Amino acid sequence: MKLAVVGGGSTYTPELVDGFARLSATLAIEELWLVDTNADRLALVAGMSQRMFEAAGHPGRVIATTDLVAGVSDADAVLIQLRVGGQSARHGDETFPHGECCIGQETTGPGGFAKALRTVPVVLGIADAVRTHAKPNAWIIDFTNPVGIVTRALLNEGHRAVGLCNVAIGFQRRFAALLGVDHRRVSLGHVGLNHLTWEREVWVDDVVGSPVGSGGGGRRNALPELLGRHLGELAEEIELPASVISLLGNVPSYYLRYYYAHDEVLREQLAGPSRAEAVQEVEKALLEIYADVSMNTKPEILALRGGAFYSEAAVDLLASLASNRGDTQVVNLRNGGALPFLPDDHVIEVPAVVGANGVTALPIAPVADDIRGLISAVAGYERLALDAAIHGGRDRTLRAMLAHPLVGQFDKAEKLTDLLLAGNSQYLPWA
Ligand code: G6P
Ligand code: MN
Repeated sequence: MKLAVVGGGSTYTPELVDGFARLSATLAIEELWLVDTNADRLALVAGMSQRMFEAAGHPGRVIATTDLVAGVSDADAVLIQLRVGGQSARHGDETFPHGECCIGQETTGPGGFAKALRTVPVVLGIADAVRTHAKPNAWIIDFTNPVGIVTRALLNEGHRAVGLCNVAIGFQRRFAALLGVDHRRVSLGHVGLNHLTWEREVWVDDVVGSPVGSGGGGRRNALPELLGRHLGELAEEIELPASVISLLGNVPSYYLRYYYAHDEVLREQLAGPSRAEAVQEVEKALLEIYADVSMNTKPEILALRGGAFYSEAAVDLLASLASNRGDTQVVNLRNGGALPFLPDDHVIEVPAVVGANGVTALPIAPVADDIRGLISAVAGYERLALDAAIHGGRDRTLRAMLAHPLVGQFDKAEKLTDLLLAGNSQYLPWA
């Protein structure tokens, strides 16, 4: 297959390439096109990627281009993984809310909103090029944050898109390790919106490859065991008190820290460098490694980035979409009634059956009041945020800002809106 990666000059790309090389039996890639606007970085990343393929005995060719149309032309699938404005815009997202006593994060709260406004128009432009130039049935896999909002923007425009994140696969691998079982036997009762999810069941199949269902024979729910014997490790993993996990009776993702421990996170953020600053240091070191032609395996320091297992998630999704495997994976897709308290066209992150015709959510057990409330509030914000990203305007922006549960107060929302618009005017033609 020809796979195009838009944002392929990312320093993360070798994580992806490592997965493609290891899992070549699952997904056969003949051509890997890396598309990026930053030609210098792209050349280093593409060189490294080609060497990694060769060292692994992978026959695939890596082609670098700054020409989007050339990159996506006749592609079988397109993966989008970009950051409009790079780490410097991210640093802005992570710091501008601080003056209003609000956490700064690139996908959650006001920072995530700024990222959505910058990103949606760019991704929609790329998707138009995919529609015109890629193979007619090409899938778009969206890793670009905020994944829920961006995926919904794509689906609203009729694109064949699925949103993907590594939080679920990270939990699957972690739970498997804690339980001492093969990760292929573990599947999750994962529910929510992207970066706003809870693990309500942890199914362990008796053997690898037993049929997928919702409990029943051949599998057990290991969540009680995890909450009992491994509570401390789980709490450490998500950086929340063990008592929150016990109280809820499920495992929230670490993105819930921005809600459940908001003020503590804010204090930490005020005391240290931003994540963007930390990442910039790692990126500098990574680019030096990529420039060294003797290097041909994934550098260990890549583990300092947050993208663990994202290549496995991408390979699994691409393989199942291409070959109709019909297995279950956690993806971002249309609600379509799966969560009855959300509009059908909202995008949710849940386990779904994946085949050549796309993704279908598995039935979801009723959601507890507290979780349902937070999901509903954030979904409301996400809908208003997409409206602002598509149509622009200060009022639409303010309305979405006010709706975000981490903002809530009008005075704060106005100040944050003005800061957001002033800081991002170069990316927002209407601001
Ligand atoms: C996790 C999230 C991604 C996010 C990444 C950031 O993997 O699921 O959506 O992009 O973390 O990692 P970074 O190393 O850039 O902080
Ligand atoms: Mn993610």
